[in-house]
Amino acid sequence: MAQHQIITEDQLTNRTRPDFSKHANQAATAPAYFSVWDIHAYYGESYIVQGVSFNVHEGEILALLGRNGAGKTSTLRAIARLDNPSLTHGEVWLDHKPLHQMKSYEASSNGIQLVPEDRRISPGLTVDGNIQLAQIAPPIGWSLDRIYELFPRLGERRKQEGVTLSGGEQQMLAVARALARDIKVLLLDEPYEGLAPVIVDEIEKTLNIIKEQGITTVIVEQNAIRALMLADRAVILDTGTVVFDGTAQEVLDNEELRAEYLAI
Ligand SMILES: Nc1ncnc2c1ncn2[C@@H]1O[C@H](COP(=O)(O)OP(=O)(O)OP(=O)(O)O)[C@@H](O)[C@H]1O
Ligand SMILES: [Mg+2]
Repeated sequence: MAQHQIITEDQLTNRTRPDFSKHANQAATAPAYFSVWDIHAYYGESYIVQGVSFNVHEGEILALLGRNGAGKTSTLRAIARLDNPSLTHGEVWLDHKPLHQMKSYEASSNGIQLVPEDRRISPGLTVDGNIQLAQIAPPIGWSLDRIYELFPRLGERRKQEGVTLSGGEQQMLAVARALARDIKVLLLDEPYEGLAPVIVDEIEKTLNIIKEQGITTVIVEQNAIRALMLADRAVILDTGTVVFDGTAQEVLDNEELRAEYLAI
């Protein structure tokens, strides 16, 4: 059986940069659908994301894991092109588009959507209103009807103010709002946080349906076991660098690896 791959510094520095250009689209050299290549990012003087690389295939679910403070949220924010941390080096490609050259609103128009840990439901707006706000400008994604088919609970509460929903319902609304944009990649930061296991089951089911629709997902979760059960692949971060890149099953099977980097 193949050993899991702990990436050594030597391997990282010897990695050759893939050819991301449009014309290199033959099978052998085809760039991954979503590629993060050697990104470095800072909060002011603080150097946090220290050369992170990974590839995600279209329609795959990747679990991005690591202990508290490993740099998971910062990596997601850098990828989504938010101002902080600032991306100083590296490339992010989505379906041949260079997100690293874009502002966050352009990256969003090109199909990437971050659902942050605090969910950011707009106060004073109903469930309908929160979703419609996301549909104000193109590219528009799923219709209200399609969204409520996926989230019947939200449909039942469509006239209720969004911030009065339960934690699980607010998480569903945050995902619904992302789907209301025409997205290719969904970035989820701690979607299960504070939720009862039965609600986690429900959200997990939804994420599988979203996957069947061809959307690619990167999930950051403290509940690593649940994330690994959902994910196809896993990347583990430690102090802002990648220490493991492999299948989710390899992490589930490797107690040592989990103890060392995930404390589970
Ligand atoms: N706004 C900020 N300014 C300065 N440093 C920050 C800022 N946000 C995070 N950091 C630092 O960056 C490092 C990585 O934080 P980050 O939030 O990305 O980790 P994380 O893996 O998401 O952790 P957690 O599991 O606790 O959410 C930490 O040392 C943190 O203190
Ligand atoms: Mg975090």
